[in-house]
Amino acid sequence: MTPTIFIIFGITGDLAGRKLLPSLLSLYVKKQLPIKFAIVGFSRKMFSREEFRTFVREHMNVKPGQYKEEDVKHFIDHIYYEQGNFDISQSYAQLAQRLKNIDDSFGQCSNKLFHLSTPPSLYESIFIHLHNSGLTIPCSNDEGWTRILVEKPFGNDIETARKLDKKLGELFEENQIFRIDHYLAKEALQNILSFRFANSLFEPLWNKNHIDKVHIRLVEKIGIGSRGAFYDAIGALKDVGQNHILQMLALVAMEPPKVMDALNIRKERAKVLSYLQPITLKNILSRVVRGQYEGYKHEQGVRDNTQTETYFRIQASIDNARWKGVPFYIESGKEMSETKTEINIYFKNDKGDKTYEDRQNVLTFRIQPDELIKIGFWVKTPGFTMDVEPKVLKFKYSDFPSHAILPDAYERVLYDAIIGDQTLFTSTDEVLSAWKYITSIISSWSTTPLTIYTKGIRDII
Ligand code: BG6
Repeated sequence: MTPTIFIIFGITGDLAGRKLLPSLLSLYVKKQLPIKFAIVGFSRKMFSREEFRTFVREHMNVKPGQYKEEDVKHFIDHIYYEQGNFDISQSYAQLAQRLKNIDDSFGQCSNKLFHLSTPPSLYESIFIHLHNSGLTIPCSNDEGWTRILVEKPFGNDIETARKLDKKLGELFEENQIFRIDHYLAKEALQNILSFRFANSLFEPLWNKNHIDKVHIRLVEKIGIGSRGAFYDAIGALKDVGQNHILQMLALVAMEPPKVMDALNIRKERAKVLSYLQPITLKNILSRVVRGQYEGYKHEQGVRDNTQTETYFRIQASIDNARWKGVPFYIESGKEMSETKTEINIYFKNDKGDKTYEDRQNVLTFRIQPDELIKIGFWVKTPGFTMDVEPKVLKFKYSDFPSHAILPDAYERVLYDAIIGDQTLFTSTDEVLSAWKYITSIISSWSTTPLTIYTKGIRDII
């Protein structure tokens, strides 16, 4: 693999410590990074080289015994720091010089992967400076690509997303832009497409004639932690609804792609999202529940009079031939009774004798924890009656000894960005269709009552 430099804007932030650096370390230990690589952290804080190395070690939070000490040490040897200001051209000139020095030490023009791990309000300025500084122009005609990885939220509603995307499109080529939704990189989520299209058993039933409803649920035991100010400005719907949950819906509901490649898969995901029926002032009360956990107002960084939701449940509909009339319930909440992401597909049972009409088959994709796929079915209870009882057929990822430890989604995100596969990244069309739908809800938010719920609850209404 060509030498690659990872440039992390906002390396001192939470995401870099929790996900990016640990994933790069894991890829390094698994020998999945190019032999020649470097990581350059860019941020406003002042550090000496030594202070920065100590900071990185603590920031990564490596557990005792998780890796060999020499691996961690060698990994940290690849990390450099560049202090700078995100909106000052001079800082980018210094960064360019740093990258050139590293290239010189490699004796080659390397690939450059720029990761924006900063507050989204800085995105536009960083895009412009990256472009104007020439940093995203490859250093040679024959080798050394440049790519940009952007975290969600990408925009704040349909208008801001459109504007940001336009800017990005003016400055860079689409094949340079990698918009991250780390849910797409979760192993159990990728399996939805394989499961649907590699097994002919289900596809004939995958439509409104046979499916009664779909329920997509991402609930968490944790609250908002130390992200009060950030979270309070966006709320649950924008935090996980606009992206992770709608991507899960897209994978369940999309049409089979002509070819299983990035172009066609992204096209079909975008298409089905564009068929989501907007929520209107007329139906919002019957379709949407929003909630806030008790005590949220007192979390650090949250406004006293906040109306931000930490929970939502929406009855979504897809207005196309396959799904017309099938409710897709999408739900997410913080401070709930458990941490679980699951998709349940309920099959109709209205064809035969009335005896069993309330007995549904349920197909479950458990995305986390304890990833699995299970099918609920009914069998006759032994004896003299025709009573039935529920049983399950189950596949657990832990049944695969070699796959027992699934790679973290961020490992996959970074790996795919290096090899240039955009399948697990969202396209402009997907982002805009998702925002169009979410904006239809947000515009009527104020008419929807906010239910205050007790922490640790399982169901809200
Ligand atoms: C993030 C949200 O995108 O996803 C967080 O900002 C949420 O609020 C997280 O907790 C959930 O991701 P995961 O991978 O922990 O399920």
